[in-house]
Amino acid sequence: MSLEFNKIAASILTAGIAFMGAGIFAEVLIHPKKLSQPAISLGAAPQQAAAPAAAPAAPALEPIAPLLANASVDNGRQLAQRLCASCHSFNEGGRNAVGPNLWNIVGKRHAQVEGFNYSAANRALADKPWDYEALNAFIAAPARAMPGTRMAFAGVASPQQRADIIMFLRSNSANPAPLP
Ligand code: HEC
Repeated sequence: MSLEFNKIAASILTAGIAFMGAGIFAEVLIHPKKLSQPAISLGAAPQQAAAPAAAPAAPALEPIAPLLANASVDNGRQLAQRLCASCHSFNEGGRNAVGPNLWNIVGKRHAQVEGFNYSAANRALADKPWDYEALNAFIAAPARAMPGTRMAFAGVASPQQRADIIMFLRSNSANPAPLP
């Protein structure tokens, strides 16, 4: 009788332990984790599939040429005093500061001022002139127009202000470059 009872007790115990163990085991095995993204998406267009490999191109800059005709040299001078003069001089023979002297810059080739330590990015363009559109793009967003430039300046967003500044730069010359 007591043997029979022990057997029953033992089997109940065993079953209990097995049950508990299975529960723990299953919990470890299939513990539900929240997915950060749905494993499948129904109906939705394939996400990211069409994303371009490179960074999206910046919106193309409007050409500055049409704005130059009505640009104001005086306003450009004021803007340049405020935005550029902390780093640049504009007069003939003016000293280089954080940036190079900008006398006669319109039409001049890149990185030509004697004794100024230009970036490799700018020196690489030394056979290209600073024409109106090159100046426009550079003043709008220096780091975007010339990745690697040393000109730590955010840029001038307003096209009209850029036109004014460029007309002021043009005026700093004994022989201003022809208008486009
Ligand atoms: C914080 C200082 C700083 C400010 C502000 C700044 N610049 Fe510059 N600028 C530089 C430096 C440094 C360079 C040299 C860039 C290089 O070599 O990559 C430079 C280069 C240039 C060049 C090319 C010169 C060359 O000989 O190739 C032009 C043009 C220019 N700056 C125009 C401007 C104008 C216009 C403004 C104002 C709207 C301005 N910069 C504001 C520091 C500055």
